[in-house]
Amino acid sequence: MKIAVIGSGYVGLVAAACFAELGHTVVCVDNNQSKLDALNRGETPIHEIYLPELLEKHRGRRLTYSGSIRDAVRASSVIFIAVGTPPLESGDADLSYVEGVAREIAVSLNGYKVIVEKSTVPVYTSEWVRRVIRLTCPEDGEFDVVSNPEFLREGTAVTDFLYPDRIVIGADTERSRHVLEQVYAPLANGTYYTADDRIPEPCDLPASAKVIHTSAKSAELIKHASNAFLAMKISFINAVSNVCESVDADIEEVRLGMGTDSRIGSAFLRAGIGYGGSCFPKDVAAFRSVAQQARCSFRLLDDVISINDEQRGRFIRKVRETLWTLKGKRIGVLGLAFKGGTDDVRESPAIAIVKSLLAEQCCIRAYDPAGMNGAKQILNDSISYVADPYQAAEGADALLILTDWEDFSVLDLGRLKQVLRYPVIIDGRNLYSLEAMKNSGLMYVSMGRPTVQPSTFASKKQEFGEFAK
Ligand code: NAD
Ligand code: UGA
Repeated sequence: MKIAVIGSGYVGLVAAACFAELGHTVVCVDNNQSKLDALNRGETPIHEIYLPELLEKHRGRRLTYSGSIRDAVRASSVIFIAVGTPPLESGDADLSYVEGVAREIAVSLNGYKVIVEKSTVPVYTSEWVRRVIRLTCPEDGEFDVVSNPEFLREGTAVTDFLYPDRIVIGADTERSRHVLEQVYAPLANGTYYTADDRIPEPCDLPASAKVIHTSAKSAELIKHASNAFLAMKISFINAVSNVCESVDADIEEVRLGMGTDSRIGSAFLRAGIGYGGSCFPKDVAAFRSVAQQARCSFRLLDDVISINDEQRGRFIRKVRETLWTLKGKRIGVLGLAFKGGTDDVRESPAIAIVKSLLAEQCCIRAYDPAGMNGAKQILNDSISYVADPYQAAEGADALLILTDWEDFSVLDLGRLKQVLRYPVIIDGRNLYSLEAMKNSGLMYVSMGRPTVQPSTFASKKQEFGEFAK
């Protein structure tokens, strides 16, 4: 099929590369010329596993780039809108980018087109897109609008896209539903999963991806409700983690006990410094606005948001309780991205915590495997950026773990102890077992678990009374 994807960000670029991988001819559009230049030079503007390989494999063949919505629409029969829907001050999604693109599509129509909402949008957006296009396009313009929400996660975006749990097609006409079925056919009928040169499956090879047909409105709600539910799981476990701290229980044991109930499931039950990223914070807020506008009481979402917001403050309190005063303290920071596996620092809890520590006049040396360029755009030279975790720890009063990069869970603890000024790790992501830390000679403060004190601290504690719980 001939496909246009408008917006070449985390979702658009991955979707475009994966559609090309599925055998379609794809033109990927963006209005950021420097991004297009980089893509045309063969660069990959975001950190995403398998994306460089896919872009290299299909660039100039099944995948091209363009700055012109008009040309892309005229060359394609299916047009995916994948531009940003950032939050407005009110919490509502800013749909002006979607509207702008819809108008440009409308004046470019040449024959029947299926216009697909890939961006995350509130319920009724497909109605508005349909209305805007109808009012703007020529009288004989033929089109349908479909909602096809995207569930990929950053860091595993390519495999999430190619090996999805489900594909939701919110089409209100038979004709457009059939077109979307063709787009996803290699995943739905499983032929992609038999290709020798496929991107490797994450663990179990699905026989095929489950396709769920709904109305456009239900599809829009599925996306918001899914993100809000996952965010709720995280806030729930963080609230339980706080109870664990108060009663000296261990959240990791509680998580294991809860998560093995198949009705609950262990995914998204990792306690920490709260969820961040460009999606959960904005989507929970937008869904709350949707509920308010529908005059439905959904106060649960208020709690999801406030528990998440408080979690960062709680972490700062932990740092203060461990180090006593903060002014002038030298802090090593591991992780700036909002989660491991990505360079994305949008709404990163790590950045928020670094900002709070800077406000307390701490001196920060930070390392992130992929997020440092993004962080520099926000933090400029208010912190030092170093080349590896041990440099971040060098001479520090404490080392903070703020992002769950896998690399940070296999550090040489002996070496860290040697380079730190004081042997203290405060882990906002629970990357280490308490067992491993007991023999490390480090003080280890984590989330929802008892603090591990090295033996030297323990004897001093007896001498001077408890200074750190
Ligand atoms: P992004 O900011 O990374 O990308 C958006 C792109 O659209 C940018 O490259 C921007 O230059 C381009 N753009 C904006 N206006 C344009 C226009 N008029 N013409 C052409 N290009 C234009 O955003 P993203 O993270 O890819 O998210 C896009 C949408 O997908 C959002 O609604 C988001 O909620 C949703 N989503 C994101 C993820 C994710 O993991 N990032 C996952 C699922 C859904
Ligand atoms: C999330 C959803 O998981 C995707 O399904 C969805 O498509 C996407 O949002 C979106 O709509 O944009 P993403 O934001 O990439 O994906 O990352 P997640 O893996 O969901 O993590 C979000 C945040 O929650 C991160 O800050 C992460 O560290 C945190 N998290 C996640 C926890 O604190 N605990 C957990 O158990 C899981």
